[in-house]
Amino acid sequence: MTVFDVAVWREGRVRMLDQRHLPGAEIYHHYDSAAEVAEAIREMVVRGAPAIGCAAAFGVAVEAFRLARSGLPDSWTEAMAPGLARLRDSRPTAVNLVWALERMAPLLRSGDPARVPERLLQEAEAIRAEDIASCQAMGAAGAAILPAAPEGRPLAIMTHCNAGALATAGYGTALGVIRAARERLGQVVVYATETRPYLQGARLTAWELVQDGFEVTLMTDSMAGHAMSRGLVDVVVVGADRVAANGDVANKIGTYGHAVLARRHGIPFLVACPLSTIDLATPTGAQIPIEERVAAEVTHFAGHRVAAQGVRVFNPAFDVTPAELVSALVTERGVVQVPDALRMRALFGS
Ligand code: MRU
Repeated sequence: MTVFDVAVWREGRVRMLDQRHLPGAEIYHHYDSAAEVAEAIREMVVRGAPAIGCAAAFGVAVEAFRLARSGLPDSWTEAMAPGLARLRDSRPTAVNLVWALERMAPLLRSGDPARVPERLLQEAEAIRAEDIASCQAMGAAGAAILPAAPEGRPLAIMTHCNAGALATAGYGTALGVIRAARERLGQVVVYATETRPYLQGARLTAWELVQDGFEVTLMTDSMAGHAMSRGLVDVVVVGADRVAANGDVANKIGTYGHAVLARRHGIPFLVACPLSTIDLATPTGAQIPIEERVAAEVTHFAGHRVAAQGVRVFNPAFDVTPAELVSALVTERGVVQVPDALRMRALFGS
């Protein structure tokens, strides 16, 4: 499997592959402060819920090392507050970002203050390693519940956006399931939707899968219904940016439409995400903040204006798929069939 430095620690700095240039160029940047990492998250250098969480964790560590260079602060919590706030505000929907910050925060208040930067770095590395392990566990759990391939052709899996190695610390959530499915079944074919307007499917998923030797077919988002109606898709597997306590799923804009279509055609609709994407503090999808992005993403295509001057634009980056349309939620702790509030609580042992 191709491994990318999505968000890693290298020689005292945060190193990230700039996903805005893919698949044309592999450009890496290095970051020395929380503010710089926050800007990189905002600007989509790194994207995908678990990857954003990892980047934020390394952003916290690099900020602590930066501050320590001018002497130990009287209070780590106070000194780090502006950097943490910048990170927290960088993107609103994927809860992994806040989850990572909340996991790092107690380390500012405990133990030897001189060792805070080092402990933060260890925690960020742990978050990264756990994310890879979670993706692998999710992959195995998801692959085990896929439907059988129809007679005469390999299983055809449709995915939306990029929930792959590029969106995580490695291996991927939805693409982790697809990777594990290939290991289990020998062969699968993938339908990747383009994912208007930011084209994560065309630019990232297609690239990632082609590099790993998958047979991947790209289609625009609006072709999914037709593909399903012609029996080309056996199962849909997507990732998530935040799953509410009742199992509602916020994911890349267009996911909801695919879920409705999948239900219409009797096709299983699976969502793969780590526990760090599940937000029990948000009761339903209605409370999940949905990021709205700049109009130019919609009015322009590959840098060229394609829409009339003066037109108004609606550009939500995510939508919410009601839990009732989700056949199963796949996590590193196992599968929740047809998620609801009760089953979600049971997943967390409460
Ligand atoms: O705007 P993006 O590219 O950060 O959106 C990414 C998605 O919506 C992914 O599907 C989601 O984060 C899951 S990634 C494992």
